[in-house]
Amino acid sequence: MKIKNICCIGAGYVGGPTMAVIAQKCPDIKVTVVDINEARIAAWNDKDLSKLPVYEPGLDTVVAEARGRNLFFSTEVDKAIDEAEMIFISVNTPTKTYGKGKGMAADLKYIELCARQIARVAKDDKIVVEKSTLPVRTASAIKNILDNTGNGNGIKFQILSNPEFLAEGTAIADLMNPDRVLIGGDTTAEGEEAIQALVDVYASWVPQAQILTTNIWSSELSKLTANAFLAQRVSSINAMSELCEKTGADVNEVAKAIGMDSRIGPKFLKASVGFGGSCFQKDILNLVYIAKTYGLNEVADYWEQVIMMNDHQKRRFADNIVSTLYNTVSGKKIAFLGWAFKKDTNDTRESAAIYVADDLLNEQSAVHVYDPKVVEERMYADLDYLNTRASEENRKGLKVHQDPYEACKGAHAIAVLTEWDAFKTYDWQKIYNNMQKPAFVFDGRGILDKQKLKEIGFVYYKIGEGA
Ligand code: NAD
Ligand code: UDX
Repeated sequence: MKIKNICCIGAGYVGGPTMAVIAQKCPDIKVTVVDINEARIAAWNDKDLSKLPVYEPGLDTVVAEARGRNLFFSTEVDKAIDEAEMIFISVNTPTKTYGKGKGMAADLKYIELCARQIARVAKDDKIVVEKSTLPVRTASAIKNILDNTGNGNGIKFQILSNPEFLAEGTAIADLMNPDRVLIGGDTTAEGEEAIQALVDVYASWVPQAQILTTNIWSSELSKLTANAFLAQRVSSINAMSELCEKTGADVNEVAKAIGMDSRIGPKFLKASVGFGGSCFQKDILNLVYIAKTYGLNEVADYWEQVIMMNDHQKRRFADNIVSTLYNTVSGKKIAFLGWAFKKDTNDTRESAAIYVADDLLNEQSAVHVYDPKVVEERMYADLDYLNTRASEENRKGLKVHQDPYEACKGAHAIAVLTEWDAFKTYDWQKIYNNMQKPAFVFDGRGILDKQKLKEIGFVYYKIGEGA
């Protein structure tokens, strides 16, 4: 079966870039990305490519090539579902904030709405692809809804799981050249036909050897497992960073030494102020919840430690600022370089910066932030979401700057929260001259030149390195 029309429900960080790349690589397939968020769709359609709702290096070029040719962004969800033979569901699956499983389980209400909408609209057979990250066995719930809530005139649905492994900031490179593409489906003849249809889409640019097909439950669970393993590496190195600070070992040297062991490998061993992003915490909590549901308490506790370590890492970074600044930051200006959860993205979900800022605001510090890609309103929304204090208080306590030198002017300390490359190239002498003395730098990403900063006169603290 050759796919000619694809619909993707959800024009977010995954749906947008993923579909843009499919459209660019498969000019014969019409790809329509739909969303209920009108502003988001308008931004995807903006002539000015700097206004795309997702910032990713290289995304603008891909969109410029495919948009209007075979890539379309629209709010007409029913129409796109009706036209497509294959429908990707790429909506958000956040942690539940209410009811059973609150604070742990994935909230599947948006997924269910999509399934119901597909069932209602479909007039012919459809392949429905889970692109969102979902708890293992969600496909059976989706299948149930599709088979039992539609108009019941013999329409057949095949469900595939095709989790997305892109990382933000490198989404386009990851999509163009993925380590693997994972496709899970039914082991029946119809299931295998559906799998093959999706394999053929990816085979336009991904070598066959990198396209892995499995049963549907393995595919669903592999996504949660991959994120749990990746996050665990960060928590493991962050745990060692604290021990390094106490013992005089340097966490970067330790990471290099262990990473040269081919069984461990060098990637994802960068100690930091704590991992953020929309996926790691949410997916581990979901995994913990699933394990608990099956009564696997040891499994649940094991993975929950990854989150606990991460919370500790964020908190101890803030605590260290307070204790180093003579146990009080009340009324002191602390400049933040970076608010995004990592470099090269405008995404701030679960960014460590939010939590560090919250702790410092509790200590009555004046937090001044500069981030090259995150807009002011996003920062306030992130703080307001924590519900720690009134919105006006957040606006009073946190100030946002368009210029890094202004953010740092008169500051008692600078905290580096995101590893943006540009921060390394700043005129640090100029920054030092305009700061309160002693001038402190807390490098939560270990990116600055320690030697140079110390020569200038900074008191420099780097995560994972003793004083
Ligand atoms: P997002 O919040 O950026 O985008 C989701 C979009 O879906 C939103 O624009 C929302 O308006 C839309 N939506 C929700 N319900 C809808 C409905 N009924 N009809 C139409 N549109 C609807 O989320 P995201 O970051 O793109 O993540 C999507 C999924 O992919 C999640 O399950 C996530 O875990 C997974 N994932 C994310 C990443 C990542 O790096 N962000 C990577 C891999 C997997
Ligand atoms: C992650 C997974 O990597 C990706 O495969 C999945 O599809 C979505 O979740 P993402 O969250 O976008 O991607 O970025 P990632 O590069 O994994 O970084 C996550 C967080 O961990 C960031 O805050 C990053 O700064 C931090 N991190 C990462 C470290 O602190 N140290 C590292 O060595 C690597």
